[in-house]
Amino acid sequence: MLVSRSAIRALHTSQRSELQPPEVTLIDKAKGWALWSAIMAASFPIFMGQAFVMLLMFLRSPRKFLGKEAADPTALPDPMPGVKHLHIEINGIRIHVASMGQAAGRPLMLMLHGFPESWISWRHQMEAFSSEYHVAAVDLRGYGQSSKPKGRENYALEVLVDDVKDVVQALGHDQCILVGHDWGGALAWMVAYAYPSMVSRLINMCGPHPAAFADNLDWNQFKRSWYIGLFQWPWLPELMMRSYDYAFVDAAFTSGPMACKTPGAISAQHIAHFKQGLRQPYACSAALDYYRAFVDSTTRFPSAAGALLTRDDVKSRQLEMPTLVLWADSDGALGPQLLNGLPGYVPDVDIHTLKNCSHWIQQDRPEEVNALMRSFLEQRAGGSSSVSGQQGAFAASAA
Ligand SMILES: *[C@@H]1O[C@H](CO)[C@@H](O)[C@H](O)[C@H]1NC(C)=O
Repeated sequence: MLVSRSAIRALHTSQRSELQPPEVTLIDKAKGWALWSAIMAASFPIFMGQAFVMLLMFLRSPRKFLGKEAADPTALPDPMPGVKHLHIEINGIRIHVASMGQAAGRPLMLMLHGFPESWISWRHQMEAFSSEYHVAAVDLRGYGQSSKPKGRENYALEVLVDDVKDVVQALGHDQCILVGHDWGGALAWMVAYAYPSMVSRLINMCGPHPAAFADNLDWNQFKRSWYIGLFQWPWLPELMMRSYDYAFVDAAFTSGPMACKTPGAISAQHIAHFKQGLRQPYACSAALDYYRAFVDSTTRFPSAAGALLTRDDVKSRQLEMPTLVLWADSDGALGPQLLNGLPGYVPDVDIHTLKNCSHWIQQDRPEEVNALMRSFLEQRAGGSSSVSGQQGAFAASAA
């Protein structure tokens, strides 16, 4: 494909990040350290309690506690034959992208998974939309078959946001319909703020809006989010994740307050894939580094993306693209209050809460999720009114 020099220049101009690093005064810095210290102090008793529990479990049966299957990612059958697996070099790392339905002129639908998952969380949506869209689901950095660079600075929000921008460009697009869930949803919000012209439409599922999360962090939500404090401590969270060969993954999807409501919606085979990703070197630390870098960026080391969680200026940055937000009424991780005030930040938003649905919304209720996505995409075929470019202009004239 021939691309003119001016087109490339236009692309780079339109995709310059609009996030500016915050101006940090000495007082801001002191406040940040105070908040970080408070989080560490509050989570210290949890850390000690969990360390004690882990010790008891280890003593009861060291072999079971430390046992682990081999970490061969090719040992499992591909859960979705027909998917093209790309390994692309971007932003200094290698990202694995599962791609379907690529054809000239088709819009890109890019999907970002959550913790502790992988691209296969999107299998139902890939199947449903690959006849009309180029659907691409990534393994986020640190997950599945993507690189897992060491050091939490490699998982800072800005770095994650730029991964998404680079993937869109590497796939030959300058815009996408961005779809995110859980951490991938939180990231999708950040990408929309950083590169608004790159996101024609935004679909967010059980992924907290940064400012709405901060606004609505009440006791109820705090009780659901306490583990973020524990994750700030070294080695113990890693040990908890890997104990009994990553049994926490089974627990997260099939038992307790997080359990999927539809029996078998997340099968043993899918869970085996999630675990296989986590068995790779540094994979657990990488998943935890998302939470560590995120807390750092909003406390001790304020960053541009982190500023979106705490600063008033997010109010002045209204997202203009049509946005669909899907929520689950029985989500153990995110309360309904996190939707309060959302239209104030995102004027063009459709919000739907699915009944009797767990946090794993796109796997628990694939038909409902796909139908809501489809009707949103059909109604909002024009994309954002502020978006220029062929795709937006064509769709707008067709609407
Ligand atoms: C929720 O959905 C599950 C699975 O479809 C079903 O077995 C259960 O009875 C439902 N519960 C309620 C309260 O509707």
